[in-house]
Amino acid sequence: MKNAGPLRTALTRWGVPGLSCRGATHTVRSARLEVSVARVRDLVEFAELEDEEIRYRQGTSQRAVAGNLAAFPSDVPIWTRECGTFVARERSTGRLVANLSLYVESGRQLHVGGSVVAGARRQGYGREALELVCALGHRHLGMRHLIARCEAGNVASCRWLMSVGFARMPGDPRHVLPDGRAVETLWWQHVDPLSRRRCRSLQAPGLQLHFP
Ligand SMILES: CC(C)(COP(=O)(O)OP(=O)(O)OC[C@H]1O[C@@H](n2cnc3c(N)ncnc32)[C@H](O)[C@@H]1OP(=O)(O)O)[C@@H](O)C(=O)NCCC(=O)NCCS
Repeated sequence: MKNAGPLRTALTRWGVPGLSCRGATHTVRSARLEVSVARVRDLVEFAELEDEEIRYRQGTSQRAVAGNLAAFPSDVPIWTRECGTFVARERSTGRLVANLSLYVESGRQLHVGGSVVAGARRQGYGREALELVCALGHRHLGMRHLIARCEAGNVASCRWLMSVGFARMPGDPRHVLPDGRAVETLWWQHVDPLSRRRCRSLQAPGLQLHFP
């Protein structure tokens, strides 16, 4: 039998290596990134970095999202029953490079999605951040399945999902984005049979609904 790599072995034994889990504050590092549960101020910062590609692909303006959070103190973590959000920062500079979310939709499955800021794309940051968020979802929050959906013509997104091991699954081929744009949709899943809940403080979004 092929030997498991060191990361896989560590994930199996201890969950996500190096993860700091304190209440809603969760922080984990990869070679170049620090990924943590986003706070209001992080999403406000991300909104300032939004470009047209993010707005178009997500079908919503991050500035509008940040505007809706304006009433909350800047250090409130973005973690609700419907959605948990992470930001990824470059460790060497503190620069914000990506925003990823775990969220629940009507199907009651846990979805993952996100965006990398324009100046940081195609440097492997998207993959690095998504690997950490998937590991957290499976090995810390205990979710066996993570679902993703992307526009069929979004090659970057398809390649991004494939790069961390998402595989195609059947699903509704049409999705309407928040701005009303109907898109041809591909569905993906990431399955971890060794998923296990280790977190003592956070519930995965939708967990109460999905696994009562
Ligand atoms: C999709 C997105 C998150 C990818 O992030 P990224 O940091 O650029 O991706 P990475 O550099 O980690 O690359 C991951 C894989 O995707 C491929 N890729 C990334 N951008 C690509 C592009 N524009 N065209 C073709 N392939 C691309 C890389 O080559 C790599 O593939 P490999 O593992 O086979 O070498 C980023 O392009 C983005 O934020 N786009 C705008 C918003 C968006 O589309 N979000 C997703 C909505 S579902």
